[in-house]
Amino acid sequence: MANQRVVVLDFGGQYKELIARRVRECGVYSTIEPGNTPIEKLKEMQPIGIILTGGPDSVYKESAPRCDKQIFELGIPILGICYGVQLMAYSTGGQVVPCEVSEYGRTKVEVDDGCPLFYGMKKDQIGLMSHTDQVGVLPDGFKSVAHTATCPNAAIADDKRKFYGTQFHPEVENTPNGTEMIHNFLYRVCGASGDYNMADVETVMIEQVRRQVGGDEVILGLSGGVDSSVCAALLAKAIPGQLHCIFVDHGLMRKNEGDEVEAAFAGKDLHFIRVNAEKRFLTALDGVTDPEKKRKIIGTEFVRVFEEEAKKLGKVKFLAQGTIYPDVIESGANNSANIKSHHNVGGLPKDIGFTGLVEPLRGLFKDEVRKLGRQLGLPKSLIERQPFPGPGLAVRVVGKITKDKLDILREADAIFRYELERSRCKADQYFAVLTNTNSVGVVGDFRNYGYVVALRAVRTTDFMTCEYAKLSHQLLGRVSSRIANEVRGVSRVVYDVTGKPPATIEWE
Ligand code: XMP
Repeated sequence: MANQRVVVLDFGGQYKELIARRVRECGVYSTIEPGNTPIEKLKEMQPIGIILTGGPDSVYKESAPRCDKQIFELGIPILGICYGVQLMAYSTGGQVVPCEVSEYGRTKVEVDDGCPLFYGMKKDQIGLMSHTDQVGVLPDGFKSVAHTATCPNAAIADDKRKFYGTQFHPEVENTPNGTEMIHNFLYRVCGASGDYNMADVETVMIEQVRRQVGGDEVILGLSGGVDSSVCAALLAKAIPGQLHCIFVDHGLMRKNEGDEVEAAFAGKDLHFIRVNAEKRFLTALDGVTDPEKKRKIIGTEFVRVFEEEAKKLGKVKFLAQGTIYPDVIESGANNSANIKSHHNVGGLPKDIGFTGLVEPLRGLFKDEVRKLGRQLGLPKSLIERQPFPGPGLAVRVVGKITKDKLDILREADAIFRYELERSRCKADQYFAVLTNTNSVGVVGDFRNYGYVVALRAVRTTDFMTCEYAKLSHQLLGRVSSRIANEVRGVSRVVYDVTGKPPATIEWE
């Protein structure tokens, strides 16, 4: 890409992605590179600015991550954040010292509004602090431009060399004017022109795909998830007539989901192949109760179906995947010759004879993928989809799976999702579970011995941990009443109030 670029050098901080995303939100392209990226490589990237991330170490620790000191001689503006500012001070002749009192959380910061970082801001700001070391002695050329009650150098500046640093984290929401500070760094210090936007990104991606693929054919495993759907829509625009999308409907989707995925792609210029494999999957799962076995069976069956369809097509040279930037960052690799087994076409066989991988989204964050999807005309229901496990409802029907149980679950789940979405309650993932417990109920004058349905709704950002969502009793009451009255075979509804840990999000 010919855009201006800001390089985020990673020293192990948990907010590195957030920094790069904030920069992109401000209209400037940014990438995350290892903290010890060689100076020659950095020069090749021609960044207009460099941001040093936070990190858990102390600069004095021998094993602490460092950058090439020559970056301070490149004449490129630098912003150091938390560990980043300490590293900058330490590397340019200052001293870092342990805090007398560690600072954690939202902290009052008094800033010098003459500093370009804080241009247009009031003196009193809030910054998220999280540190046990801080800059004690400033290097030559630096001055303090912000302080807190216990941190005299909460922000430092060397206007001549265009080096700035904050002990607090401007990239997080808990620093309310943080994005504005980053914006100021980009536009008032680095001379950004704001040339990064999704419309241009789309154009560049389309050109790149066309160059890579030429006149050959491409196959994509379409799960209906956000990433593979956006990938399909982009490729349909880039290489109309050369794309085959295989959507394996395993019969474990939510209510109407298969049809919605199909409808979203009906008008696109691609060969949409829907393989209705419900019978095949349910036969393979017949009588299976162990969740891990269910997952394995579904994974294997999925690969088989995909393989069969790919073979039928013949002469397909490229395999496309909806890999996105966090997948690349997490795998720690910048080249991805291998097909990643964790992806939505998990564990695809390598021996179908593809000559290359097409991964147009591998530079984008999730929110950017969503933006691109909207731009490409995909419906909201697809773009804003919450995560849905690959094994689908198989892990939400506890115990043995039958079509009848799946149908009951689909109805209950649809009611819950509908009611939650039209309420003011917030949850990041929410669904119904069909338990393997029966309970006695009464319908009219008759005894009803039906299933217990459990509702699960969680708040989380990373899906690694979660809290249960504090849904209102009014909402829970309405959902319970609707499910118990409208869904055949259900006698009782309960709400799961367990966090992760100790539970997991899914029941199986
Ligand atoms: P757990 O249940 O482990 O789930 O707390 C964390 C997140 O992962 C999703 N999940 C899966 N996704 N294949 C997937 O693609 C799976 O086998 C699987 N199991 C859980 C789950 O929905 C949640 O978002």
